[in-house]
Amino acid sequence: MILLDQVTKTYRGDAHPALDHVSLHIEPNEFVFLVGQSGAGKSTLIKMITKEEIPDSGKIIVGGIDLDYVKKRYIPHYRRRLGVVFQDYKLLPGRTVFENVAFALEIAGMSNSEINKTVPKVLELVGLLDKAKKFPRHLSGGEQQRVSIARSVARQPKILIADEPTGNLDKLTREEIIDLLKKINDFGTTLLVTTHDENIVNNLQKRVVTLKDGRVVADQKIHGIYRLDGSGKITESLKTPTRRIVRTTELGKRPINPSPIQPVAVAPTPVVAPTASANPVRTTAARTATPVKAATPRRRSARPATTPVTAKDPRRYRARRVI
Ligand SMILES: Nc1ncnc2c1ncn2[C@@H]1O[C@H](COP(=O)(O)OP(=O)(O)OP(=O)(O)O)[C@@H](O)[C@H]1O
Ligand SMILES: [Mg+2]
Repeated sequence: MILLDQVTKTYRGDAHPALDHVSLHIEPNEFVFLVGQSGAGKSTLIKMITKEEIPDSGKIIVGGIDLDYVKKRYIPHYRRRLGVVFQDYKLLPGRTVFENVAFALEIAGMSNSEINKTVPKVLELVGLLDKAKKFPRHLSGGEQQRVSIARSVARQPKILIADEPTGNLDKLTREEIIDLLKKINDFGTTLLVTTHDENIVNNLQKRVVTLKDGRVVADQKIHGIYRLDGSGKITESLKTPTRRIVRTTELGKRPINPSPIQPVAVAPTPVVAPTASANPVRTTAARTATPVKAATPRRRSARPATTPVTAKDPRRYRARRVI
């Protein structure tokens, strides 16, 4: 799903590399925390994946696409395959909550009637249906971040990348946002999240990759704990775990449909998906593009994960059209 092989990046004027021979393989549907001290290279790694920055050497393959082959003019198309969430939300201040989410779908070429059907479903998913007509300035930080997440997942990306999504939020709101990300991951989206939040990492016990001085110094594949170096030292907060508080009213008390976020592009492993009719966010366009049968591995999934879809490959264009 995401593969970095010996990726090195030194910014111009810097004496040391921001990333130093980083190799990382993230499987479909994984939830990975990327941790490390300030300046360790977390955001640089994210920028490699979003192609905001180009590595000096090494190979990056995302969702079957070899980024070496994504030409500059196709970068926006490529980015639309990813959901990206930032610490500062990056919402459009002059547009309402509804319009912010709708805009992401508009630029992806979705029709107005599809947008009008999809946006309320996504807003319901993030618990903000009642704030659809509000402007970002009238929302709390946590609510703004939920709009940002709604906007990112509306196009049903297979991969969601979040660079310190909880950096500006209080403790309870941080937990709500992480809970929402976890829910999105449960629906089948691969998550890569950078954070400095030790409690959240330790409570979730997902995979934890630690960067230090641009190198991967620890990769705890399961039950990961917050760790800033490669040692086996157990951190203080793990010895006294904090209780996880979830305000269910904020995220919606009603049971959420098991799969509102439906993968739409090439999956290297079989995807067990619900029927289209059971999926509230799934659009007509996506249904047409990727017919999925319940619990039936798609033929494409037989393709080895290592087979990149290159810029010249028709598979790439087929995937791009449905985004
Ligand atoms: N645009 C840039 N130009 C030059 N150097 C940069 C640039 N962006 C990052 N760096 C340097 O690269 C290194 C890694 O920075 P990066 O932003 O990836 O760290 P980080 O782990 O995300 O830190 P933080 O936790 O503070 O966000 C740092 O030494 C930083 O100064
Ligand atoms: Mg950063």
